[in-house]
Amino acid sequence: MSNKIIGGLYRQTMDKRKDAVKSFSGMSDEEIEAIYSMTSLSRDLADRMIENVIGAIQVPVGVATNFVINGEEKLIPMAIEEPSVVAAASNAARMARPHGGFHAQATRPIMIGQVQVVGVQDPYAAAQRVLSESQKILEICNSTNPTLVKVGGGAIDLDTRVIETIRGKMVLVELEVDCRDAMGANTVNTMAETIAPLIESLTGGRVRLRIITNLAVKRLARSWAIFDREMLGGEDVVEGILDAYAFAEADPYRCTTHNKGIMNGITAVALATGNDTRAIEAGAHSYAARDGRYRSLTKYSKDSNGNLVGSIELPIAAGILGGATSTHPAAKAAIRLLQVKTAQELAGIMASVGLAQNLAALRALAAEGINKGHMKLHARNLAMLAGATPDILDEVLKRLGSEHRVTYDKVAEIVKEIKSIRNS
Ligand code: MEV
Repeated sequence: MSNKIIGGLYRQTMDKRKDAVKSFSGMSDEEIEAIYSMTSLSRDLADRMIENVIGAIQVPVGVATNFVINGEEKLIPMAIEEPSVVAAASNAARMARPHGGFHAQATRPIMIGQVQVVGVQDPYAAAQRVLSESQKILEICNSTNPTLVKVGGGAIDLDTRVIETIRGKMVLVELEVDCRDAMGANTVNTMAETIAPLIESLTGGRVRLRIITNLAVKRLARSWAIFDREMLGGEDVVEGILDAYAFAEADPYRCTTHNKGIMNGITAVALATGNDTRAIEAGAHSYAARDGRYRSLTKYSKDSNGNLVGSIELPIAAGILGGATSTHPAAKAAIRLLQVKTAQELAGIMASVGLAQNLAALRALAAEGINKGHMKLHARNLAMLAGATPDILDEVLKRLGSEHRVTYDKVAEIVKEIKSIRNS
């Protein structure tokens, strides 16, 4: 395990944090500035990314600490507007450290492309005619992207299905494409479009849609960790977390929020690294309902010492090449900070963050409730607004103590009082 432990970032100024992150990761000045400057998305670049651009909206990028993933210390860039998420992930990661941190892995990065064929006279026979030409179809697919084949990816298999719809039977041809380090949508869509004429001649039907599916069941990321019983707050909290997990498994209303908490972490890393957050979200929720009932993406049990064992499995179609991951300077810097060499590594990290995020939420809900942490941050923000300087911030928060309702007026009064005592 690397010994480059980095802690206490939350107590430092932003400038100091930048220096700590830079020296931890070995990023160059230019790379760290791409995030720190908050101006790396130029007008010109933005105008080339989407249409009718009139500006950009900024979202803070925080760094989650304490993560040990597959024996390596990691700092995790997270882009998110919601307070407490980064702190919660860091806190959960701390509780996994004594037991070796997170153990992550990901399957081959295989995406599925669907070709929809309608108006087929003999759908079952047609599906078999397609299968018997699999080799030729895959060769045509691969001719569209020789570079991908050269690096070990490409179309590797195909399957067919006949589905019943409100407009009659349809034949589906489903391509499996190893997208290596790209998310893969462009590659897969191009392949699906290129084979359409051949599919029409084999089936005698009409090809309609040719598109990737975001239910990426062949591109799964997994992670597990043991969370320390005492650090969690003892046996009762562990039992409370297991009850919370059982609640989510049994009830879709709770489970939606439970999985939303998981996606707080995963989407934040996806956004920071320039990935397609909607594709990952859609795939995750659909995967959670794959057996007809909406379930938790995480699982929990107790080990023989009463520690909590958590695991997660979901599709994560995230890349480190192509799209915004390659064009947005801040996204490139975030990938650099993660020190990942493959999309699979990134997916494993994202799964670990999702697990940590979920554990943190369940722990807070089962113990003190979710509001305490939120109130602390809220109080901190109000104190800054009321003019508290870093040297008096801790004292302001201490004086507020465990107030349940923190108002701006109350905070401002305390700030004023402390300042006048210090100045007298
Ligand atoms: C808030 O963004 C996420 C939580 O509601 C998740 C959960 O309830 O498990 C705290």
